[in-house]
Amino acid sequence: MTIHIGAEKEDIAETVLLPGDPFRAKWAAETFLTDVKLVNQVRGMLGFTGLWNGNRVTFHGSGMGMPSLSIYVNELIRDYGARTLIRIGSCGGMQNSVAVRDVILAMTASTLSTPSRGIFRDLNYAPCADWSLLNAAAKAAEKRGVKTHVGGIYSSDVFYDERPDLNEQMVRHGILGVEMEAAELYILAARHKCRALAVLTVSDHLLTGEALPSADRETSFGDMVEIALNAAFP
Ligand code: HPA
Repeated sequence: MTIHIGAEKEDIAETVLLPGDPFRAKWAAETFLTDVKLVNQVRGMLGFTGLWNGNRVTFHGSGMGMPSLSIYVNELIRDYGARTLIRIGSCGGMQNSVAVRDVILAMTASTLSTPSRGIFRDLNYAPCADWSLLNAAAKAAEKRGVKTHVGGIYSSDVFYDERPDLNEQMVRHGILGVEMEAAELYILAARHKCRALAVLTVSDHLLTGEALPSADRETSFGDMVEIALNAAFP
């Protein structure tokens, strides 16, 4: 047990898929895994471990934002031995070439700041995905026929952004979408010699104002989970 995770050490798999929403972890585990066991429910942050095609996988909520993700990922890596960590979440589209429902594989994640800012100080560290996962995810997405973009995203600390000028610069510099967790996941994975990737569905669009209807969210989430599982176990 750790401060935030009630699981026994052996309850957590080496491969952990991280949706922001704990109920997405429950849905994914019940939909894709066999022999499912609830392994955490401290503070309602649900974690489940089971088997996918004979491979042990944990789905664990990360919460929203990098400080929350940092708590869970630190404990999953340092105390439970997680080695492959894949965020499965949503993002806001930031390019006209990116449409709602498309998938984005985050090659890099730009930020203004992360919980690791204090140790980097004046270094603008460039958080990037693990190549083997990124490559396998791109292939899995292509095989499924899901429209997929690979490139840079922006990990923000705010959902209700008061700096539209910054978005303008992101758009200008080719950032594909905005979300709130990937950069710190990539930094923690690098620090602890783990593999990480963020697989994101475009749930809304900053340029067009379009949003994914809630009826479509489950299908899109399912596509993303399958891409992530196939990336982890190609
Ligand atoms: N901003 C930040 N995070 C997000 C967004 C957004 O527009 N959409 C989905 N996650």
